[in-house]
Amino acid sequence: MNDLTITQPDDWHLHLRDDAALRAVLPHTARQFARAIVMPNLKPPVRTLAEALAYRDRILAARPAGSAFEPLMTLYLTDNTSADEVLTAHRSGLVQAVKYYPAGATTNSDSGVTDIARCDAVFQAMQDCGMPLLLHGEVTGDAIDVFDREAVFIVRHLVPLMKRFPKLKIVLEHITTSQGAEFVASRADTIAATITPQHLLFSRNAIFKGGLNPHYYCLPVLKREEHRVALVKAATGGSGKFFLGTDSAPHAKNRKEACCGAAGCYSAFHALELYAQAFEAAGALDRLEGFASHHGADFYGLPRNRGTVTLKRESWTVPGHLPFPEGGLVPLMSGETLQWRLAAPAG
Ligand code: DOR
Ligand code: ZN
Repeated sequence: MNDLTITQPDDWHLHLRDDAALRAVLPHTARQFARAIVMPNLKPPVRTLAEALAYRDRILAARPAGSAFEPLMTLYLTDNTSADEVLTAHRSGLVQAVKYYPAGATTNSDSGVTDIARCDAVFQAMQDCGMPLLLHGEVTGDAIDVFDREAVFIVRHLVPLMKRFPKLKIVLEHITTSQGAEFVASRADTIAATITPQHLLFSRNAIFKGGLNPHYYCLPVLKREEHRVALVKAATGGSGKFFLGTDSAPHAKNRKEACCGAAGCYSAFHALELYAQAFEAAGALDRLEGFASHHGADFYGLPRNRGTVTLKRESWTVPGHLPFPEGGLVPLMSGETLQWRLAAPAG
């Protein structure tokens, strides 16, 4: 097969940043995806409907001419988020979900939740109105090994949360472990998960190959090969519980290649091509469309897209550098060869 035409996909987990950074990265996403769930971890974070609508306007204004790309907005959950704010946001029809970050877990998460049980009134409101809760599923704190943070989160926080709110729609974002994949697969249809391209393509060895490589450092961090294999199995298995979420997280090159380098892989430039590479390696290209274009929309209760995109078999080299404020951006797999290339523009 040399051509693959699929329903236009959506990205169910994306960092677009703001201002000049937003203008630099948005065309990459808009070229491939019809919609994206936009993360709220700006500085300061997007906590209210008013902030989400203002951010949405800035995204719409940054779209390339003629683009119909639709940002799906989220609110950043804090200890002080009120149930009323969430319900008002939901009623607007423009805010799709609420994002939980544990305080201190990752980039701009200082305002995150210090104790998940403090948010029960918000979760109750979300359960009642059917709004999904998006979880950065890691515990923080020095007592837990960084590679165990996701597995511990599931046992310590997710299981009790699902007991308290059995009908709450939950997306366990960017799963990285066999425990994450197996947990989601084995539970009711109220819980689903997104999977990034880097967690399908790489184990943690990539971070250390040929010297410390910060462009493979993201959070949750890459895990052992056996976990990568479990994630590929989940993504390519045909289950509607697993769908595409790039977690593309741009940071300027000098912020990555630095002492205390920032977490995040930049994949928006070539996201679909990266996923095609992973699915082909698993002999499952026929499952890419469900994962990329159907399962997420179905879970969120949104219509599937009507347009299509076409990938062509063509080997090409990922550029070493892309324009971005503060000296440019290094995309995931820069300098490496991919076997599929997006041909037709979204339409
Ligand atoms: O690697 C990451 N980068 N993980 C996150 O959770 C946040 C993201 C970012 O915003 O840079
Ligand atoms: Zn993210």
